[in-house]
Amino acid sequence: MTELVDSDARPCSPEVLGSLARPVKVGVPKESVNGERRVALVPDAVRALIGTGLAVSIEASAGEAAGYPDAEYVDAGAEVVGRDAAWTSDIVLRVATPTVEEVNRLSSGSVLIGFLAPLTSGDTTRAMAAGNVTSLAVEAIPRITRAQSMDALSSQANVAGYAATLLAAREAGRFFPMMTTAAGTVKPARVLVLGAGVAGLQAIATAKRLGAVVSGFDIRRAAWEQIASLGGRPLRLDFIPDAETEGGYARPLSDEENQQVRDALDENAARQDVIITTAQIPGRAAPVLITAAGVANMAAGSLIVDLAGDSGGNCELTQAGELVVHDGVKIISPSNLESDMAAHASQLYSKNLENVLGLIIEEGSLKLDFEDEIVAASCITHQGEIRHERAREVAGA
Ligand SMILES: NC(=O)c1ccc[n+]([C@@H]2O[C@H](COP(=O)([O-])OP(=O)(O)OC[C@H]3O[C@@H](n4cnc5c(N)ncnc54)[C@H](O)[C@@H]3O)[C@@H](O)[C@H]2O)c1
Repeated sequence: MTELVDSDARPCSPEVLGSLARPVKVGVPKESVNGERRVALVPDAVRALIGTGLAVSIEASAGEAAGYPDAEYVDAGAEVVGRDAAWTSDIVLRVATPTVEEVNRLSSGSVLIGFLAPLTSGDTTRAMAAGNVTSLAVEAIPRITRAQSMDALSSQANVAGYAATLLAAREAGRFFPMMTTAAGTVKPARVLVLGAGVAGLQAIATAKRLGAVVSGFDIRRAAWEQIASLGGRPLRLDFIPDAETEGGYARPLSDEENQQVRDALDENAARQDVIITTAQIPGRAAPVLITAAGVANMAAGSLIVDLAGDSGGNCELTQAGELVVHDGVKIISPSNLESDMAAHASQLYSKNLENVLGLIIEEGSLKLDFEDEIVAASCITHQGEIRHERAREVAGA
């Protein structure tokens, strides 16, 4: 691990980064995960950061897959560098969770910000602590009003909800809108969206804009109004009490409640051409909402797009990343849909990171305030320690 040094050749730390004689350097390495097309900073964000007194180094071709060529970064004032220089910057910005090998490239005392999978990737957490990296995981940013502009989970789920609906429209083999033609009139598609959080509400809005007859379901009653405000019909399963907790998230249902919901949805599935599922409770396996019997109730040619495949799937038959065909019903569970819309996904993500940097940088210097609840909640490792309680458990430290 490289030791980051300041101009007086002292070993670096966030405290030292706060008093560097040169501008703090933000590095953006090229994403390495297969299929990841996003980039952590777009040229407009580079321009804005340089305007606040930071320097930006971007690895050559890091933005290319998202539609941002190196020349645009140079125009924005960034230095285009090789892999090592990007990884050894003072602050490194990243989209996908880095591998241990990548974490080991970081300088001791540097800051890493990105999706760091603190609840699933113990190896990454241990490597960050061992390397004396201060890490901020964007997925651990609390979903509070002040943090909305930094909420990368939401910005990216929005993109995924939109992309999932376009995928469904493409794969359904039928029109979404009603179509009146000389050769006859075609009925609009019936689309049901399960889980009306960020991705689900965007899926409802998008399916509605495409002309489908849309309904939506969530176990939080507040979501019913939101479904209706987007032109969807809320499925009011009011035999289940409101499942919203104080923090705004849903509580897990009891086995009996789950069974009641599944029975109702299995029966409702028979009336749908397309079901898009997005139900989740953070940190838990996805609830199964459509069973094999529900799939069997659907007409041949119907489609399920399951966004929750990576956490087990909302449909009993889902296989993450695979196409399953059951009694003529197609079930698809794509991952990383955000990369299908890499230009705008990157633009939104980049704005989230710009706002996180605004929180930890004052007049061009790094100032980490652990009294701030956003910093405290999202900081995974600092000065060799794993500060985040659940990440510490997952890392077995
Ligand atoms: N595949 C992809 O490319 C991709 C991309 C982004 C997000 N996702 C996934 O999409 C899902 C939704 O993400 P989000 O950011 O919208 O989450 P969110 O937390 O905003 O929304 C999830 C919703 O599910 C609801 N819910 C929980 N249990 C339920 C149940 N039993 N029945 C009905 N509704 C229930 C919650 O009340 C909440 O409104 C997650 O599984 C996420 O991992 C997938």
